[in-house]
Amino acid sequence: MKNMYRTALLVACVFIESVGVWAQQPHTLTVAVNKPTATIQTTMWGVFFEDINLGADGGIYAELVKNRSFEFSKPLMGWKAEQQPFREGALLVLNRPEQTNNPRFVRLTLQAGSSITLTNEGFRGMGLKAGLQYHFSCMYRTEAAGLRLKVNLLNPNGETIGSTTAQAAETRGGWQTLKATLTCQATDAKGKMSITIEGPGTIDLDMISLFPADTWKGRPGGMRADMVQLLADMKPAFIRFPGGCIAEGFDLNNRYQWKKTIGPIEERQLIINRWNFEFPHRAAPDYFQTFGLGFFEYFQLAEDLGAEPLPILNCGMACQFNSAELVAVKDLDPYIQDALDLVEFANGDITTPWGKKRADMGHPAPFGLKLLGVGNENWGPQYLERFELFQKAIKAKYPNIKLVGSSGTDPNGERYELLNKGLRALNTDFIDEHYYRKPEWFLQHAARYDTFPRTGSKIFAGEYAAHADKTGPANLRNNWQAALAEAAFLTGLERNADIVHMASYAPLFAHIEGWQWNPDLIWVDNLRSFGTPSYQVQKLFSLHKGHKIVPLLHNGAPLAGQDSLYASAVIDTVANELLIKLVNAGAQPQSVSLAPQGLKKLPKEASLLMLQHPDLMAANTFEAPQTIAPKTSTLILRAKQLKYNAPGYSVNMIRIKM
Ligand code: AHR
Repeated sequence: MKNMYRTALLVACVFIESVGVWAQQPHTLTVAVNKPTATIQTTMWGVFFEDINLGADGGIYAELVKNRSFEFSKPLMGWKAEQQPFREGALLVLNRPEQTNNPRFVRLTLQAGSSITLTNEGFRGMGLKAGLQYHFSCMYRTEAAGLRLKVNLLNPNGETIGSTTAQAAETRGGWQTLKATLTCQATDAKGKMSITIEGPGTIDLDMISLFPADTWKGRPGGMRADMVQLLADMKPAFIRFPGGCIAEGFDLNNRYQWKKTIGPIEERQLIINRWNFEFPHRAAPDYFQTFGLGFFEYFQLAEDLGAEPLPILNCGMACQFNSAELVAVKDLDPYIQDALDLVEFANGDITTPWGKKRADMGHPAPFGLKLLGVGNENWGPQYLERFELFQKAIKAKYPNIKLVGSSGTDPNGERYELLNKGLRALNTDFIDEHYYRKPEWFLQHAARYDTFPRTGSKIFAGEYAAHADKTGPANLRNNWQAALAEAAFLTGLERNADIVHMASYAPLFAHIEGWQWNPDLIWVDNLRSFGTPSYQVQKLFSLHKGHKIVPLLHNGAPLAGQDSLYASAVIDTVANELLIKLVNAGAQPQSVSLAPQGLKKLPKEASLLMLQHPDLMAANTFEAPQTIAPKTSTLILRAKQLKYNAPGYSVNMIRIKM
C-alpha cells in the first residue's frame, strides 16, 4: 500500500514537473530518432523583403531626407521654402537635360541681405537621437565665392537641436559634393532638417541628404541598424528581394529593373512606388523608390546576414491585378538578358562587364548567387510560356542556378492547378506558393504537404501570413491567434522539409504611420522597431531548424490538428539533440507523453523554449514589445519518457540531448 502511494506520488511529480495540471489522458507520441527521413535544407527559413509599408525608403534605408533629388512627381514634395524677404523667381526647379536619370535640381538666387531656408519634413518626420552624429551632404554648383549653408536639425516646434555650417566653394560650372557632420542634442521621432543660405549669390542644389552615423556596420549611406539587427537575430537562410508585386510593377514601365538600381546613387533613376496608389484607403502620395537601396545593397545585406540572395525578376508581365501589361514573346529577349546579366553581376569574374560593375562598387569577390526567381504572382498560360523561355536560356548558360517559378496568387483553384502542373512539367526547381489566409486555414492545412509528390519540383513557401479578422492592440492584425496558427502550419512545412526547401513570411516590414498592408512581420516607427508574435514564431523555427527530419507520430499518423495539437521533430546533428516543436492551438492544456525510439537512454533534463499567451488577441507593441516572447525553462525527464503538459495557446520547442 505504502509503495502504491509512493508510485502515485512519483507519477504526479513527473506530471507536475512538466507544466500545470493534466487535463486528460496524455497523447502518446512516438519519435523514431534512429530513422531520419530526410535532410533539412540549409535554405529552409528565410525572409521576404519588399519596399511596401515604407519598408525601404522611409524604413530600412536610413536616408532621412524625403525627395532628396526633387524627382517626385511634385518636385518640392516634402520641402518647405521660406524666403527673407520673398522675391518671385528666387527659387526655381530646373532641369539638366544631360542627366537623364536625375535631371531636376533647385536654383536659389539670393541678394545681399536675403536668405532662403529649405526645410525637409522627412518620412513622417525624421527620427533624431540625442548625442548621435548625422552626416549631411548635397551636390551643389555655384559661381559665387563664400556662400555658406547653415544646416539645422529641428524638433517639431522648429527649435534647433543640432547645427553646423558648411562652406560652399566656387565650382567653376561643375557639380561638387558638400559634406558636413553635426551632432543632435535631443531625441525626437518627428524631427526635421533645414538648410539656410544667405546671399548674395546663386547656388544650385541636388541630392540633399542626411544619414545617421549609427547605420548597420557604420556604412555611410547605409541601413537602419535596429531593423537589420532584427533580421540578423533570425539568422535567415535566404533573403528574397525586391518583392513581391514591386518586381512586376503597376505596368511594365513601373517594373523593378535591377540595372537601374546600381552604380552611383545620384544616377539611379527614381520611380513611383506601386504601393503609392495601390490601396486608395491607404494611399501614400509621397511613396517613391529612390533605389538608394538597390541590388548591390541587397546582395551585400544577404552577405552580412549569411543568407542566400534570392532575387525575383520581372518575367515580361506587369501585375495582373493592375495593368496586366504583357511583353510579346518576340520582344522578351531584353528581359531574359537582364536575368543572365544579373547572374554575371553577382557571380561573374571582375573581367566580365557586369562582374566589373560589381567590383567597381567595391565588391570584387562574387556574391555567390545560386537562386533566382522569374515572375512574382504571375499566372496563366502566358506566364508558363515566358517562364519556359527564361528557364531554357538561364539553364543553358548557368545550369547550376536554381530557378523559382510562380504558382500565382492562391494555394488552390484553377489558376494554381494550371501553374503547378505546368511548372512540374517543366521540371522547375522550385514552385513559389503564396497563402494569405485566415488563421483557421493555416490550422486546417497543416498537413498540406504530407500528400504532395515526393519527386520533381520542390516547394518554396514564398509568402504567407495568417490574416486574423480581429485586430490586437494598436489595430495590428499581428495578434497571437495569427502567429499560433502559423506555428501550427510551420510544423507541417518542417515535417515535409524533404520537399519544402524554403519558407518566408510576408511582408517583412511596416511603418506604423506609412503602411499599406497589415499584418507584417516587423513594425517600426522612426526610432523604434519590434518583432510581432509571428516574428517570434519564425525566429523560433529558424534558430532551431536542425538537420534531419525524424518521424513524430500519434496513433501512426502525423500530429496535425488532433485535439488542436501540431508537432514536428528534427535532429540537430551538430549539437546531437532531438528538437520537438509542439503547438497547442486550443485553449485547453494538452498533455503528451513522448517516447523517443532509438535512444538507449534519456538525459535527466530537457530544455523548453515556449511562446504562450492566454489571450488570442494579445500582440506585441512598441510599448510592450515582449508581450509574446520566448521563455526558457528546464523539463525533468524520467522513465525514458518525456511527459509534458502543453499549456493552452502555446508554441513549445523542446531540446533533448541524445
Ligand atoms: O506581401 C505583399 C504582397 O502580397 C506582395 O507584394 C505580393 O506578392 C502579394 O500579393
